[in-house]
Amino acid sequence: MKLDLTHHRPEFLQAGLSRDELDDNPFKQFKLWFEQAEQADVINPSAMSLATSDGLEISLRTVLLKYFDEKGFVFFTNYASKKSKQMDENPQAALLFPWLAIERQVKVSGRVERVSTVESMRYFASRPKESQLGAWASHQSSILPSRQLLLSQFEAMKAKFKQGEIPLPDFWGGYRIIPETIEFWQGRENRLHDRFVYQRVDGVWTISRLAP
Ligand SMILES: Cc1cc2nc3c(=O)[nH]c(=O)nc-3n(C[C@H](O)[C@H](O)[C@H](O)COP(=O)(O)O)c2cc1C
Repeated sequence: MKLDLTHHRPEFLQAGLSRDELDDNPFKQFKLWFEQAEQADVINPSAMSLATSDGLEISLRTVLLKYFDEKGFVFFTNYASKKSKQMDENPQAALLFPWLAIERQVKVSGRVERVSTVESMRYFASRPKESQLGAWASHQSSILPSRQLLLSQFEAMKAKFKQGEIPLPDFWGGYRIIPETIEFWQGRENRLHDRFVYQRVDGVWTISRLAP
């Protein structure tokens, strides 16, 4: 069996990116591109690939960016999941926003920190009740013998937390990726794409153009 995709030759003709249109502050630049992705109806612009490694194995998955500011990019997950074990072992990670409909990608790499319990509580409390129960019901990344078991765990949690607020599970919360580099990529004609990387050196952001 073979699938030959050599005839797939996407062209990138929508826009260019020059140094003088970049904000000196990479967070402001990210915010601008994020808003443009939303305006262009990119599907799930907050979906980002998260790459982690414990030093032996590399793994990758999609998570949802919940907020960002100059402190970093925050998402929430199960602290016993594979990604969490890898980040706890090796607190470095990379993110990728694949905004392919507008021929853009943004790459982020940096240090990882757990957010405070108060911060996780604040976000957890804002989630719909069913998502809160879902967090309680799933032992994320462990082998699950059947979907039926997951549904019965969900029902058990529903019964357990019938009354009042659903508390934050102690195995669930946020991580913040504190960027050391942020790269903005804009597809161009003839594969001569525009790439600019911001790098934080001694607390100051420098900007360099990279070869495509
Ligand atoms: C669009 C999308 C959004 C997702 N958002 C999250 C998220 O915010 N947090 C999360 O833990 N998993 C999220 N997932 C599921 C993860 O991709 C992954 O399956 C799960 O976190 C287990 O990953 P791990 O075993 O590598 O730890 C999302 C998946 C998709 C496709």
